[in-house]
Amino acid sequence: MNNDDAVQKLTQLEVIRQREGLEMIPSENHTSPAVLQMLGTRLTDKYSEGYPGHRYYGGCEYVDQIENIAIERAKELFGVSHANVQAYSGSPANQAIYYALVNPGDKVMGMSLYYGGHMTHGLKVNFSGTIYDSVQYTTDKNGFMDYDAIAALAKQEKPKLIMAGTTAYPRQIDWKKLRVIADDIGAFLAADISHISGLVVAGAHPSPIGVVDVTMTTTHKTLRGPRGALILSNGNPSNPLVKPERTVANIPSLIDRAIIPGLQGGPHNHQTAAIAVALGEALKPEFKVYGQQIVANAKKLSEELMNRGFNLVTGGTDNHLMVIDLTNKNISGKQAEVALGLAGITVNKNTVPFDTRSPFDPSGIRLGTPALTTRGMKESEMIQVAEWIELAINNVANDSKLKSIHDQVREFTKSYPLPGEN
Ligand SMILES: Cc1ncc(COP(=O)(O)O)c(C=O)c1O
Repeated sequence: MNNDDAVQKLTQLEVIRQREGLEMIPSENHTSPAVLQMLGTRLTDKYSEGYPGHRYYGGCEYVDQIENIAIERAKELFGVSHANVQAYSGSPANQAIYYALVNPGDKVMGMSLYYGGHMTHGLKVNFSGTIYDSVQYTTDKNGFMDYDAIAALAKQEKPKLIMAGTTAYPRQIDWKKLRVIADDIGAFLAADISHISGLVVAGAHPSPIGVVDVTMTTTHKTLRGPRGALILSNGNPSNPLVKPERTVANIPSLIDRAIIPGLQGGPHNHQTAAIAVALGEALKPEFKVYGQQIVANAKKLSEELMNRGFNLVTGGTDNHLMVIDLTNKNISGKQAEVALGLAGITVNKNTVPFDTRSPFDPSGIRLGTPALTTRGMKESEMIQVAEWIELAINNVANDSKLKSIHDQVREFTKSYPLPGEN
């Protein structure tokens, strides 16, 4: 039932765009019908500020139980004793971590956006770089995280919080090395595993749990849930009426208080229910197979692209994504994004380490395999995908060629339906 033709029509067009194309933005995925269904429920009508059993509103008996299911599943999936599932999305969840652990003006450290970090890790135009005094680390010249350089910067700057994690980095992160760096200067260490949490669940990337002090993940990337976030830690919340000191043991209480009353009002209950359903899916053995396949596909795709003369930052991938430096192809990331889009392959332009071009028209593109893997594609399909990428990049100015690639992509995707459409 929808009487709004304008919005309905555009929504349908977006579904067709997804169905008939290859979604290769590595932070995107296709959710299950069960997850989608929860997002369109009456739960969205309900106010429930507070936490289960301690709400500021009546009528919360069912949403309490739903939130508790989400919390318990998050705890089981990641092996922690505390999970906050209320952050509206990844950026507010990171804001809650800063709010919980440091004061405005305190020094914080994270990876520069231009080298693979996220803007909430201290970019100067983001809250994290304006409210806090942020210092940023880069990569080595080949695009790898340089733990010695990070250690030296930490020693020099002595941040109170290190926010570790990446948004465009194709290699595994060594949490233990970061722990040593943080301990050396007495800093809190937070892990942002938004991109890789599905891989962590599948055992395809080392987990930061038990190594770092607090872990954040969005729920909508490799974890394949609705938009949202989890903040995970160990310990138990203390008496909510007593203001906790900033200690590692108090992180569960500090996070809960940062979310509400610190930053947010009512939780989005429809989203919490969808998170609960997605976490239920991620707890199934099939999800481990899925997570491993994402990486196998990315490795195959990266090899195929390199065989076709593409330069990949760090020379390959260990995870779900790769960054292609297009300098040797004499086109920019923006041109490539547009051309691939016309060919039905959605990627995003991205800076490469030490990029000489502007972030608005950088030298690279970022692409990954989570969504294609959800549609059932495996290594053999990656050969075909690499072929189309090469063809499109070699024909950026040839619209009819790009359209003919899209025709082939459209035909191909019929064999790989979106979840629930088969
Ligand atoms: C590492 C990382 N952290 C945080 C976020 C922010 O998440 P959201 O877009 O849900 O605010 C992203 C999103 O791309 C991310 O990649």
